[in-house]
Amino acid sequence: LSSIDVDVTQVAEGQSITAKWRGKPVFIRQRTAKEMEEGKSVALADLKDPLARNANLASDADASDANRAAPGKEAWLVMVGVCTHLGCIPLGQSGDYDGWFCPCHGSHYDTAGRIRQGPAPENMAIPPFEFTSDTTVRIG
Ligand code: FES
Repeated sequence: LSSIDVDVTQVAEGQSITAKWRGKPVFIRQRTAKEMEEGKSVALADLKDPLARNANLASDADASDANRAAPGKEAWLVMVGVCTHLGCIPLGQSGDYDGWFCPCHGSHYDTAGRIRQGPAPENMAIPPFEFTSDTTVRIG
């Protein structure tokens, strides 16, 4: 009942759309090769929040790039677009880590949506989701 199907046919590499799920924005982005490289090159020890925050994985899964991306489709990131500080909506392709920047109090998220700098305590949340076809994402 609470799930939605989103057609991502129009989301080319380097583009994003924002869906709405349970009243919250969900960012769906097809990352570029450079963004994926950046996400993978970060040492887990350098992350402020070491947990994946991915509803599809165990709660203690680590925040590796693979654990943040869609399984089998590492270019794709599906993430609740709400800053984990006080709930503003971060801006895409902004900030010091090529990811998202929250202008409310200056939180910088990287290309995997992980908090890297600023007051936000956690990585942006990955909701329950799956690709039900090559071009359809079911959220919830
Ligand atoms: Fe995003 Fe405060 S709500 S930094």
